[in-house]
Amino acid sequence: MRKQAEPLDPNVAPVLGRVYLVPTITNRHGQIVPVLGGWHKDPEISKSLGEHIHLDARFLPARMFKSKRGYRGSDYDKDGFVLAQVETLHFLNTEEKPKITLRPMKCLRVMPHFLDTAPIGRKNTSWPQEMRCTYQDVKLTDALVCPHRGIHLAPFEENGFAVCPGHGLCWNLREKRLATEEEEQAVRKARKAEGEASEV
Ligand code: FES
Repeated sequence: MRKQAEPLDPNVAPVLGRVYLVPTITNRHGQIVPVLGGWHKDPEISKSLGEHIHLDARFLPARMFKSKRGYRGSDYDKDGFVLAQVETLHFLNTEEKPKITLRPMKCLRVMPHFLDTAPIGRKNTSWPQEMRCTYQDVKLTDALVCPHRGIHLAPFEENGFAVCPGHGLCWNLREKRLATEEEEQAVRKARKAEGEASEV
């Protein structure tokens, strides 16, 4: 008998291979894409991007995941990098935000680290450093929600830290503060040493 999809708790990491009711939208090709968080603008990152929503790479079907350059490294400019991981109203050729609908999707992989392929300090990319400066004295509340755009951090916890899948801020969850650069480097290095878990 087919197992029913489970609700996706925003504070709990989904189990690989299990099916959850995931927020999704329909993209311009008529494909169903899993999304994370809500529609928003990030003028501090890209003036041209406009209203957009992030893809949830944990549930993104393999073919779409591989086609997103932002997740697999390559040569792209600042906006290209950002655009690889979102759907925008501009892309969708609409002024109206597509409705977010819960649909059953399988958890296929752990969330890749945002900015893994565009390390802090890379040429032409100053916004990660600017964001670090903006948030360096901000304290997390007990809800462990990223103060930038409200993404829940608990599901992305790795040894007491979480790299926010929204825009890459790395948080020290135990001390409820932004990770230092040394801490962030250690978190990213540990993930690389582990290697990416194969898809289920
Ligand atoms: S939501 Fe933007 S870095 Fe967390």
